[in-house]
Amino acid sequence: MLQKSKKQTSPISHPSFKKSCPLGKLTEQQFLSDYWHKKPLLIRQALPGFSTPINPDELAGLACEEEVEARLILEKDGPAPWTLEHGPFTEDRFAGLPETHWTLLVQEANRYIPELCHLREAFNFIPHWRSDDVMVSYAPVHGSAGPHVDQYDVFLLQGLGRRRWMINPQPVAADNLLANTDLKIMQDFQASEEWILEPGDILYLPPGVAHYGIALDECMTFSIGFRAPSHAELLSSFIDDRVAELDDSLRYADGDLQIQKNPGEITAQTLFQIRGILQQAVSEPDHINRWFGRYTTEPRHGELPEQRAPSLNPAEFKTQLEQAGGLIRSEHSRFAFIQEQEHVYLFIDGREYDLLPSWIYIAQLICNHCQLKLEMLQAWLDDQVFIELFCALYNHGKFDFPDRA
Ligand code: SIN
Ligand code: CO
Repeated sequence: MLQKSKKQTSPISHPSFKKSCPLGKLTEQQFLSDYWHKKPLLIRQALPGFSTPINPDELAGLACEEEVEARLILEKDGPAPWTLEHGPFTEDRFAGLPETHWTLLVQEANRYIPELCHLREAFNFIPHWRSDDVMVSYAPVHGSAGPHVDQYDVFLLQGLGRRRWMINPQPVAADNLLANTDLKIMQDFQASEEWILEPGDILYLPPGVAHYGIALDECMTFSIGFRAPSHAELLSSFIDDRVAELDDSLRYADGDLQIQKNPGEITAQTLFQIRGILQQAVSEPDHINRWFGRYTTEPRHGELPEQRAPSLNPAEFKTQLEQAGGLIRSEHSRFAFIQEQEHVYLFIDGREYDLLPSWIYIAQLICNHCQLKLEMLQAWLDDQVFIELFCALYNHGKFDFPDRA
């Protein structure tokens, strides 16, 4: 039986597994060329020695917190087969669960389990902007989320116990769905391949591959997910961004209007002009690049880190930074940069910082690493602009000192 328990905070300086490329014998480039976004791959002992940084009771504790996105899936013993319940849950809910055939899923677990930043870093061969979250699941024997399809690239890392994974890469018909459940569970699933995963094993799945994982023991799975934006989302966000910039006095203009034979007709000349207005609005590379940096670093779920009160002034920040020996990046925030000839654009949580080209090292530091050790920052500590930037980011909650993370 799960019992709510508070997660013990532990220093994040050491990962709970041997840090190596999680692709077995494949090089990162071989994986990208042959498998990424294309076909499934089972990697035995991808992360040898992996031990879960959160135990089942601590995961249950997280699922009781107001701000945590948690779900329970009950295959049996609910009001109907495959019942979905949303958190936050109470301790009593866990006490009342059946012995088997259910699973608990906690989304964005990386926000609450700082050690998971090491797990995300193991996948640094994929650009961070593609990364979504780490979901952690717990299931007793026979627990499962049911056979389904995701629109994600996902690395399913076995963290505790064993799970039987069955997959089928054949396209799934849109109407192959079980009725009377809020979950998108396939009505008809035939496995074409199956494996039993043990702790440290990873199953990589590209989007659209039907999969069904059933716990053979008490089991935890870590889903490292990568979300590709839909074209509809991209267009809608870009248009919103552009519309906010456009001056309302820019209007369709027809000072050169000629008499038309049919007043009811929209002429080819008018349509040519309309297409020109739209193309001009969406074709400027600088607009697209900077909007994309902002868009892709906007928080995808939940709240932004909180503004610190009281805040530190730059001198206090520098002293504390030196004492703490470095900085830890907030797992609530998203970071990216774009390097151009004359600019380095740094994007944090949808906000753009226009930096000098000589600050490329800083942009790389901030965006590539979840931990910034003091030696990485040493050469910049006497640069007032650097200290002011980092102090402002610290005060906005984008960084913390290691002992407090
Ligand atoms: C699970 O961890 O049980 C489900 C993961 C998935 O199927 O995406
Ligand atoms: Co899935």
